[in-house]
Amino acid sequence: MTPGISRIALSTGGGDAPGLNAVINAATLAARNRDWEVVGIRDGFNGLLFGDDYPDGGLVELTRDSVRGIIHQGGTILGTTNRGNPTAYPVQQADGSWIEVDRTPELLARFKENRIDALVMVGGDGSMAIGQHLCEAGLKLVGVPKTIDNDLDKTTATFGFDSAVDFASQCIDRLFTTATSHGRIIVVELMGRYAGWIALNAGMASGVHAILIPEIPFSLEPVAATIAHRARHGAKFSIVCVAEGARAVGGGTSVVGKARGQAERLGGIGAKVAAELQEMTGREARTVVLGHLLRGGSPTSCDRLLGLRFGAAAVRALEQGQSGVMVALNPPTVDYVPLAEATRRQKRVPLDCDSILTARDMGITFGDDAPSHTTIGR
Ligand code: F6P
Repeated sequence: MTPGISRIALSTGGGDAPGLNAVINAATLAARNRDWEVVGIRDGFNGLLFGDDYPDGGLVELTRDSVRGIIHQGGTILGTTNRGNPTAYPVQQADGSWIEVDRTPELLARFKENRIDALVMVGGDGSMAIGQHLCEAGLKLVGVPKTIDNDLDKTTATFGFDSAVDFASQCIDRLFTTATSHGRIIVVELMGRYAGWIALNAGMASGVHAILIPEIPFSLEPVAATIAHRARHGAKFSIVCVAEGARAVGGGTSVVGKARGQAERLGGIGAKVAAELQEMTGREARTVVLGHLLRGGSPTSCDRLLGLRFGAAAVRALEQGQSGVMVALNPPTVDYVPLAEATRRQKRVPLDCDSILTARDMGITFGDDAPSHTTIGR
């Protein structure tokens, strides 16, 4: 038995992503096979902070039986939340104003009361930053990176991304048939926050005609020119992929709103782009927002494998006495990076990466004035 560890907890925080249950499965089996007890915390840290609100006290015993048959399931059997960061918890005062309270001491006390020696914390950049804070406060912890957005630095990939790209491509393929039949412009808005990974990859895989991503502020003139060029050559339809975080040159990100204790919600750029393209080209334009559909459903085998590898690697890290690290894909292996490094910046699409070069070579425009080899494309 590893000195100092006989019982660990798992938590899943932030937006759900296909592959979370694979992590839970492998981490539980790896821990049980070391004779450690494993508990799952419900809904991020809520199960520990608000245990009385849960019929089971907010903690669920994870056993070989309880994690059987979950690898292929989307979502997370533990539940998740992307509000109520315990290190800056929003609390309303008697006068109606709000303050943020650091509930770390209370949370650490709950870990102790429940005899939890270490935590495997699965989440995105927000969760990893919380993990870093908890670690500094004395909790033994290993982070597991998760997000469909693929925007976590220091790991080549996060699970959930491949499933999101795969499903988005299937949807765009379907939009091609209707766009072709009607000779329409269809603008597809895709999640991804401030990074364009999903839009870039799904757009390329489906052979769209324009891709607008946050990393390249766009102007619609080159996009309208591409659409007009295609129409002149007999392709009366065009498909434009827009990342939710994309913004026009000199403009801001399109934000739907912001609830207290939550990150700002992005959205609406697809409709704006479609309206302007219709105006500029005189062709009918429609918008499709894929939204949370990208987070749902069964993980691809690639995401299942990544989730399993990450889950088991997290347990091995604890066994080796590591803490304050995040498991990271560094092909062909999974290794560990300090949490502080992983949370330093977001991973955004590099402008000189091979995918951008390939897309440009295919004649896909990014709405910038870089020379594009306009072709009729798919
Ligand atoms: O980070 C994952 C993600 O799906 C982003 O792509 C998106 O902006 C955000 O979460 C939406 O979160 P919510 O669940 O609050 O709608």
